[in-house]
Amino acid sequence: MKLLLTGGMGYIGSHVAVTMAKSGHEVILFDNLVNSSSDTIKKLNKILDKDVYFYKGDLNNPNDIKSIFEKFKIDAVFHFAGYKSVKESVINPIEYYSNNMIGTINLINEMYKKNVKLLVFSSSATVYGDPKYLPIDEKHPTIPKNPYGRIKLQIEDMLDDIYSSDNNWRIACLRYFNPVGSHDSGLIGDNPTGLANNLMPIITKVASKKLKKLSVFGNDYPTVDGTGVRDYIHVMDLAEGHKMSFNYLLKNKGCFKFNLGTGKGYSVLDLLKSFIKMNHCDVPYDFTFRREGDVSECYADPNKAFEFLGWRSLRGLDEMSESAWKFLHHNEKD
Ligand code: WQD
Repeated sequence: MKLLLTGGMGYIGSHVAVTMAKSGHEVILFDNLVNSSSDTIKKLNKILDKDVYFYKGDLNNPNDIKSIFEKFKIDAVFHFAGYKSVKESVINPIEYYSNNMIGTINLINEMYKKNVKLLVFSSSATVYGDPKYLPIDEKHPTIPKNPYGRIKLQIEDMLDDIYSSDNNWRIACLRYFNPVGSHDSGLIGDNPTGLANNLMPIITKVASKKLKKLSVFGNDYPTVDGTGVRDYIHVMDLAEGHKMSFNYLLKNKGCFKFNLGTGKGYSVLDLLKSFIKMNHCDVPYDFTFRREGDVSECYADPNKAFEFLGWRSLRGLDEMSESAWKFLHHNEKD
């Protein structure tokens, strides 16, 4: 089938592109390259040993979306495109509302016009806000604490309304926990343009001496070792979750929410120790104050995704660390 991946040149999008193309689908990547590199297309072609179609476009330009839907008979959409920094969303909410929300509305409008009603939406565990209980299941209250999370939830609510108005829609909202790691080839990975915010890209920058040290944001949390605990999930497990959601939607109409996490929480020091052990490298760090807005622990109950989709994560922390390092080295050579 012909699949349109908005934001398909980005971290998650490019890994899903590999998984869906390997499953025999034609993937069409639509991206404005604001937070990704055009080099990714060469790497995807190398991994897939075939040419992947890339269209440089912006969801905030309805003509770009119209063109791609006129050029290809799209069967389904995987929607990744959007800004993804929680910190930036607090500083510049209007930029986030306009880019992430209006961009999505433009996309849905064009899908409606072309009668394309199968959508896999890249949502986030930030829709939950502070955990009221752990592990977090899909019934957990959704009280996001920042514009980024609020927009993700508002888009989910809009998709619920769309399904209520037209039961022909097939929608999966995938709530990612903490995606890390890279494709086995090391050719694609988490390579944010500008300053990295997330833990693993920062660890890799310190390991490669691009940054002097890692600041561990707080070691006074009520956790196993005082540092923040998160549900780190290998990006290839996450990509598999997208494939199994798509396969589920082929047989089921509705608007579904699924947590994509491992169900295990690991601390900052756990990840750090795994990275150093697997890659025999040095990552200098020190403890600093807690980061504004951070919670002490957050990890998923992934059972609904297993019951409905037959999906569960397969890879552990060590594989996440090893693959992130492999990507780092491939990138250094480029
Ligand atoms: C993980 C842990 C930090 C950096 C974010 C987004 C979320 C989702 C995933 C999009 C925390 C600690 C981090 C550093 C540190 N993205 N840390 N020093 O905040 O759990 O989630 O990414 O959907 O929306 O909020 O991920 O990687 O920023 O932090 O100590 O330099 O690492 O305190 O405990 P987070 P993170």
